Amino acid sequence: MQILQTAAALHAQTETWRREGYRIGLVPTMGALHEGHLQLVRAAAQECDVVVVSIFVNPTQFNNADDFRLYPRLPEVDAELLVPAGCTALFLPSVEEMYPRPTVLQFDFGSLERVMEGAHRPGHFNGVATVVSKLFHLSRPHRAYFGQKDLQQVTIVRQLIHDLSFDLELVAFPTIREADGLAMSSRNRRLTPEARAVAPVLHQALQYGEQLIRQGRHSPQEVQAATVAVLGQEPAIALEYLELADAETLQPLTQWQPGRDVALCLAAHLAGVRLIDNIVVKSS
Ligand code: PAJ
Repeated sequence: MQILQTAAALHAQTETWRREGYRIGLVPTMGALHEGHLQLVRAAAQECDVVVVSIFVNPTQFNNADDFRLYPRLPEVDAELLVPAGCTALFLPSVEEMYPRPTVLQFDFGSLERVMEGAHRPGHFNGVATVVSKLFHLSRPHRAYFGQKDLQQVTIVRQLIHDLSFDLELVAFPTIREADGLAMSSRNRRLTPEARAVAPVLHQALQYGEQLIRQGRHSPQEVQAATVAVLGQEPAIALEYLELADAETLQPLTQWQPGRDVALCLAAHLAGVRLIDNIVVKSS
C-alpha cells in the first residue's frame, strides 16, 4: 500500500491509473477506522481495480472546536488495518495541503440542509461538500463509497454529484453495528464505560419507532413522541433531535405518504460525546 501525502502525488497516481484503464474506488474517511469503514474498503476492493482511502480530519466541517481537537487520530493503526482490507493507496494529507488558502466558495443545499445535521451544525455540509469535491477531483474515482450511517451526508453528496456532474457512481453502504446494536463510530472510542453501556438504547429506541411505524396505527407525531419517551427514560442521554423524515427529501413528516420510505434519525449526547444514528423503514 502506498501512502500519499500531497495532492500532487495523488493526482499523478490516479492519472496514471486512469490511463492504464483501472477502475478506481474512493473511500473518504476521517480515520480512527472501525469495521464500518473497513467494510466500505472491502466492498471497494471487490468492485474496483484500485482503492484510494483518504484519512483527513477535515477542519471545515467541524462547528465545535473541542470536537475537532478531541477527534481521535490514529494514522499508524489505521494504515495497518487498511492493508488487509485491500487499500491500494492511503491519502493522508495535512490541513495545509488540503487548504493552502482559506476557501471562499459556499455550498447551499437548500431544504436538504435546513434539517437535522445541517440545522444543528451550521456550516457542516459546506465543509463536507468542499472536502468531498476536492477528493473527487484529486482521486478521480469511478465509484465512491459512503455509509448510510450518515444518511443526510449521503443525500447531500448525491446532490453534489448531480449538481456538479461528477462522473462517478455513489455507493451507499448499510450501517454496520456492534453486537448490541450501537452504530459503529470513531466517536464511540470517547465514550466512558458507563456511557458505552447505555449507548445501545439509541438503536433500541429507533427500532421501537420502526415497530410502531410498521404497526400502522400511529401518526408520525405519535411515533416521534413514543420514541423520544424511550430515550427520556435514560438520564445519561441528552437528545438533540429525533426526526421522522421522508427518506429521500429528508423533510419532516406531518402525515404518512403512501409508497415513500421513512427515515427515523437522531442525534444525542452521551457524556459529552455526540452520536448520530438512523433507521430507514421501507414502504413495501
Ligand atoms: P467518517 O465519519 O470517518 O466516515 C467515513 C465514511 O464511513 C462515511 O461515508 C460514513 O458514513 C461511513 N461510516 C461511518 N460509520 C459507519 C458505520 N457504522 N457503518 C457504515 N458506514 C459507516 O463521514 C466522514 O468521515 C466525513 O464527513 C467525510 C465524508 C470523510 C468528509 O470529511
